[in-house]
Amino acid sequence: MKILVTINQMHSACRDAKQAGKSLGLVPTMGALHEGHLSLVRAAKAQCDVVAVSIFVNPTQFGPNEDLAKYPRDLKKDSELLEREGADLVFAPSAEEMYPFRPVTWVTVEEMSDKLCGRSRPGHFRGVTTVVAKLFHIVEPDVAFFGQKDAAQAAIIRRMVCDLDFPIEIIACPIVREPDGLAMSSRNSYLDPRQRKAALVLYRSLMSAQSLFDQGERKADKLIAAGKEMFSHEPSARLDYFEIVNPENLDPVDQAFEGALVAVAAFVGTTRLIDNVLLPKGKE
Ligand code: PAJ
Repeated sequence: MKILVTINQMHSACRDAKQAGKSLGLVPTMGALHEGHLSLVRAAKAQCDVVAVSIFVNPTQFGPNEDLAKYPRDLKKDSELLEREGADLVFAPSAEEMYPFRPVTWVTVEEMSDKLCGRSRPGHFRGVTTVVAKLFHIVEPDVAFFGQKDAAQAAIIRRMVCDLDFPIEIIACPIVREPDGLAMSSRNSYLDPRQRKAALVLYRSLMSAQSLFDQGERKADKLIAAGKEMFSHEPSARLDYFEIVNPENLDPVDQAFEGALVAVAAFVGTTRLIDNVLLPKGKE
């Protein structure tokens, strides 16, 4: 496994792989890797000859009062995990390498970038799409792997790839959860044991909406009310949003349907957590 820190090195390593006729998969991450990230690496291994993983805590997707400075970073441990998974190329550039100048050129997926997390984190998705577009140019992968954990991010990137004709297939992989249901996240490490328990309210709220859907309820406002109700029993969590949207354009829906995206975000202490489910085939 090669670890590369400059854009030039990474670009030529990826070009070499492609010139040798290999298919190339990219897994973009911000590091502090857990089983959720590793599931993407495994999906990439299964589908591609060469697997590249980027590790870059991207400053342009963090707001001024967010956790950029304290975001967990451990390149040594991440490299060990990736080596074990059989990743071939790790791209771990510095912020100066990726942004030698204050960026004035942005890739923005309009409309979608103001939905869900984009509403409470202005500029967040613009930072994500800009860095992912840069990574796509540097790596030129055939396939890129994202987690359904960040469902809005995956939908926005799909749209960017479509609108800008990136010749890249986007694959969204299922959410990996802890045994009790909490979606794995690098930010879970911020939680103390009491907060870790309280954080389960996100999953509970999704399950509550889903079980009402299973019972035949289709009115989105009823399902949303059931989800929100869970938060009234958990005073240490502060709800940011609980929404049911079309998973492709992220527009809110009035009537829930099989495959609709139920998405929740909440603060537990100062930690912002997100989770979601796609509504399953309902019993008619
Ligand atoms: P990061 O939060 O490190 O996540 C990297 C990838 O792992 C994302 O596609 C995310 O959806 C996926 N992921 C995280 N937790 C997961 C889980 N529990 N199950 C399945 N997949 C999971 O998302 C980012 O980084 C950044 O925004 C990035 C795309 C790298 C751009 O900077």
